[in-house]
Amino acid sequence: MAIEFQTEGRIFTIQTDATTYQMQADTYGHLLHLYYGETAAGSMEYLLTFEDRGFSGNPWEAGEDRTYSLDALPQEYPTQGTGDFRSPAMAVRDAGGVWGCHLRYQSHSIRKGKYSLPGLPAVYAEEEEAETLEIQMEDPDTGLAVTLYYGVLPRLDVITRAVKAENRGNSPLFLEKAQSACLDFLAGTYDLIQFYGRHAMERQFQRSALGHGAAVIGSRRGTSSHQYSPFVILAEPDTSENHGLCWGLSFVYSGPFKAEAEKDQYGQTRISMGIQDEMFSYCLKPGEAFYAPEVIMSCSGQGLGRLSRNFHKTIRHHICRGRWKLTPRPVLINNWEATYFGFTGSRILEIARQAAELGVEMMVLDDGWFGKRDSDCSGLGDWQVNEEKLGCSLAQLSEQIHGLGLQFGLWVEPEMVSEDSELYRKHPDWALAVPGRKPVRSRCQLVLDFSREDVVDYIYEQISRVLRSARIEYIKWDMNRSIAEVYSAAADRQNPGEILYRYVLGLYRFLERLNREYPELLIEGCSGGGGRFDAGMLYYTPQIWCSDNTDAMDRIRIQYGTSFGYPISAVGSHISAVPNHQNGRVTPMETRGLAAMAGSFGLELDLDKITEEEKACVRRQICQYHQDWNLIHNGDYYRLAAPEEGSELAAWMFAAADGSEALAAAAALDVHGNAPASLIRLKGLRAESEYRDEEGRIYSGSGLMRAGIPLPRFREPYGSWRLRLWEVNHDENK
Ligand code: GLA
Repeated sequence: MAIEFQTEGRIFTIQTDATTYQMQADTYGHLLHLYYGETAAGSMEYLLTFEDRGFSGNPWEAGEDRTYSLDALPQEYPTQGTGDFRSPAMAVRDAGGVWGCHLRYQSHSIRKGKYSLPGLPAVYAEEEEAETLEIQMEDPDTGLAVTLYYGVLPRLDVITRAVKAENRGNSPLFLEKAQSACLDFLAGTYDLIQFYGRHAMERQFQRSALGHGAAVIGSRRGTSSHQYSPFVILAEPDTSENHGLCWGLSFVYSGPFKAEAEKDQYGQTRISMGIQDEMFSYCLKPGEAFYAPEVIMSCSGQGLGRLSRNFHKTIRHHICRGRWKLTPRPVLINNWEATYFGFTGSRILEIARQAAELGVEMMVLDDGWFGKRDSDCSGLGDWQVNEEKLGCSLAQLSEQIHGLGLQFGLWVEPEMVSEDSELYRKHPDWALAVPGRKPVRSRCQLVLDFSREDVVDYIYEQISRVLRSARIEYIKWDMNRSIAEVYSAAADRQNPGEILYRYVLGLYRFLERLNREYPELLIEGCSGGGGRFDAGMLYYTPQIWCSDNTDAMDRIRIQYGTSFGYPISAVGSHISAVPNHQNGRVTPMETRGLAAMAGSFGLELDLDKITEEEKACVRRQICQYHQDWNLIHNGDYYRLAAPEEGSELAAWMFAAADGSEALAAAAALDVHGNAPASLIRLKGLRAESEYRDEEGRIYSGSGLMRAGIPLPRFREPYGSWRLRLWEVNHDENK
């Protein structure tokens, strides 16, 4: 068993292939965290030290023992009001407004398989692939019962955590904070790596030393946000891509979140992750339960690259689901950057016809096909096809596109409403708004109240009607603003402090139903690009439009940051026009294709405006993508050269798990005169094997990995390089 309980000392030990996690329910019933790191054997209770420390108080049960203090001991799930003055994982108030709860161990259970969470996305696994530990904690004074869930996937070095809080008392309790995971480290110096950004420039890598004073990131926007990713890494200062210890936390949730890391007064470090506690206050009536969403944790003793690969495999195989989880997805063309709102049905058909000639497999009709929607100021909520604009019905358009040999996809934004829409005129109270106050507009639109079941059900029916009306194989689910008004017109039923959480539950309910009723449908997530790029959405949508920024150079940086926590298969990525529409940069088609191929590949440009030579390049790249798809999506991903500020080169590669084939790629971020040769060292090959490239040149695996390979001299800005390798005599080498 991966999970063991040692009765003597009440010690829980979780062993994965390369890591150990240990905790102890001590004599007072406090659940103390002992260790999380590379494999270690035996009880580590001896790590705890006890000192009488000024102003660190002692629980009543400790009597005169002033050396026992929760302010200094490492804890598994610290709560406010226990004498631990660090940032708590949980804060509770009773009906009289009194803070505090004091959880103590009651019982536990260990079983095969992985727990699931009602209404929430979570890692899933076969019975034989995972184990579950549930620890029951209780506070006798308030009647709060808390279940701590641990899901273990030993082969992937992954431990998941989630929390259930139940009110077993007689009066309401208010959860003011409910994090899903918390880790206390007894000693050490750490860096926090996080991924900040903005619209069209998401997930930029930032690594900073963690000192005293909390480092807090999160979102207050109703979604996980462009600004911070709900994925963070704690790393020892000397940890690099290929060496050293690091821990990652990924939140399986798409709403506002908070991640905190702090070195405390005694040099101990606490990191936690969970839902955002600002504008959160969940009323638990007697008998009710609340679920804090899941956090996926992994630890790597072999650097950040290994940590990323653990997350890639977990998300690809145990979060993403359905028909498109592991099957090649169609290479699509999206009309947004080609036409924006200005299209007709025949223009779309013309794009599809040209795209078909290049080998594209699906035509996606973006925003503007419904209601009164010729700009972003109107029409959202009216999910009726604008046949006048299309010049035909959606079914007819789809049939014509299918006639060209392409599948058909459609853009939708179900969570939104324009004030200038039939829906809003009929149901103004369906938009989130505070009575008597003017709402904040963003992109001229308001947010529908998805915390309400009736609203979700109505929109579901509207979207479903469209899906039934034509052959539609794909939808792009967009969400184009942040939520500012946290108030529901159904206030009799909705406590404002619960709305943002219930909104996300409503969104998940919709997406779950869509997945069940349309199992063949490929859904691509989107929120102004990558504003809701998280493991929660990936449970329902196996790919997400990574950014509204389609410039190859910016995309390389955005996709670099994204690659730390999310698999390549999740990254929606397109070739677009030059000068690029977001930043005016001109990059060669070859490089645009290479950047877009490090993802779920597609096109988004006016094919009338590209040269025959560029068309030939795109045609070739689509063939390459088909040939390399398995390697790109199922292979191991390695970051070889980081596109950091000031660096001249970015390089990455994909290698089959058995080292039988590989694809390496690089792009010049900058060029200089008389530049020295750049050597990059490859990864994931078999040292003892030989490899052949597309020109028939032979290299040794050891040479490529240890000595490296020189890149050609880039003589134009933003040039790129690609090396496809096959192991020579692969079958005999096995
Ligand atoms: C968002 C998306 C874009 C496009 C537009 C349409 O910005 O990220 O790709 O679909 O909406 O309005």
